[in-house]
Amino acid sequence: MPVLRNIGVLARCLPTGPQDLIHEVRNGALAWEGEAIRWVGPEAELPGPYREWPAEDAGGRMVIPGLVDCHTHLCFGGWRAEEFVQRLQGASYLEIAAAGGGIASTVAKTRAASREQLLARCRGHLAGMARLGVTTVEAKSGYGLTLEHELRLLRLYRELGEGSQRIVPTLLAAHVVPAEYRERRDDYVTLVIDEIIPAVSSEGLARFCDAFVEESAFTVEEARRILSAGARHGLRPKLHADQLSGCGGAELAGELGAVSADHLEHVSTDGIGALAVGGVVAVSLPFASLYLGAPPMPARPLIDFGVPVAVATDFNPGSAPSYHLPFAMTLACTMQRMTPGEALKGATIIAAKAVGLENEIGALEPGRSADFAVIDAESVEQWVYHLTANACVRTVARGHEIWRAP
Ligand code: NIG
Ligand code: FE
Repeated sequence: MPVLRNIGVLARCLPTGPQDLIHEVRNGALAWEGEAIRWVGPEAELPGPYREWPAEDAGGRMVIPGLVDCHTHLCFGGWRAEEFVQRLQGASYLEIAAAGGGIASTVAKTRAASREQLLARCRGHLAGMARLGVTTVEAKSGYGLTLEHELRLLRLYRELGEGSQRIVPTLLAAHVVPAEYRERRDDYVTLVIDEIIPAVSSEGLARFCDAFVEESAFTVEEARRILSAGARHGLRPKLHADQLSGCGGAELAGELGAVSADHLEHVSTDGIGALAVGGVVAVSLPFASLYLGAPPMPARPLIDFGVPVAVATDFNPGSAPSYHLPFAMTLACTMQRMTPGEALKGATIIAAKAVGLENEIGALEPGRSADFAVIDAESVEQWVYHLTANACVRTVARGHEIWRAP
C-alpha cells in the first residue's frame, strides 16, 4: 500500500469532457493498495491515513495512466525488412502481397515457428512495451489462418496474459484469404464461421472478432457475415476499415455497432457519420500511414463529429514494424493534427474503450486498476514534442512494478 508523492503533473485522463481535457493535477500524489488505486489528488490534500503509508518519491516527474496499445498483431514469425526496401524502391504493399509476400509470407513463417520461439519473441516485445509505459496490449491472431494455428496463437496470448501486463485477445481469422483457399474463398469464410469462431468462443480465447475489409482481403458482405457470427458467439466486432481504399468499412462498423473501426485513412464523410451514430471508437494507426506512405487518418473531422479517436501502433512485420506507442502519439500530432492531450487520452482512456475496458483501466481514479507510468517530462506537451530514447522511468501494472529505469 504505497503512496507516490511529489508528482509534478498527474494526468488523470478521466472519461469525461472533450478529448483534449486530461484532468491535470499539479503537485499530486497517488495511493494504491494491491491491484487498485485508492486515492488520487493534490499531495497537500492527502487524507490522514495515507500519510502513514510507505511513501515513494516521483521526483517532480509526470504520472500518466498506463498506456493501452489497443491494436497490435503481437505474435508473428520472422520479419519483412526486404519488403520495406522494395517499397522504398517503388513497389506497393498490394503488389508485394500479390507476388506472394505480405501477410501470406508471415503466415508461412508463423506456422513454421515453434510455440517456444513465438512465446520468447512475444515476451521480448512485451518487455520492450513495458519499458515505454504500456500496461495493456490488445493482441490479434491472424497469422495462423487454420483452426489449429489460430487456436495456437490465441492460447499463447492466454499464457502471456498471466502476468501483470494485460493482454486483450482478438480473433482475426479474417485477415486475408489464405493461399490454399484462393480458388474457393467461400469455403474459407464458412470455415471461419462454422469452426474457428465457435471453437475460439467455447474455449474463451478471445474478446473480439476482427475482419480486414479491403479489396485484397474481405468484402463488406463477407465481413458482415463473419462479424455477425462472432457477435452471436459473444465476440464483439472490430474492423480494419478503409485502410488502402474507401470501401464502406466505417459504414459497416456503424451498422454493426462495432467497438472500434481501425485505420480509416480513406474514411468517407458518411462513414464518419456512421461511426458517430454507432458510438464506435476510431483507432488511428499512424505507423501504418508512415511506413506505407499513405495519407493519415483524418482525425480532426472525426473528433469534431464527436467520434473518440484512439492511437495505437498496429505493431506487425509489414505495415507497422514498431511497438513504440509514445512515438505513434507524436506522429498522431504531427501527421493528424491531434493535440498532445488528445493523443494521451487516445492512448489511455479512449484506447481502453476500444478494448471494452473503459471502466477498469485508462484513467487514474480510485477503484481503477493501479496501472500507471512515471514519465521524465514536465508536461504532456514537452514529452510528446521532445522525443527522447525513452522518457518512461517506471511502469506499474495491476499494482506491480514491471519496469524501472536503472
Ligand atoms: O493492420 N491491414 C492489415 N493488417 C495489418 C498488416 C499486416 C501485415 O502486413 O502483416 C495492418 O496494417
Ligand atoms: Fe492491423
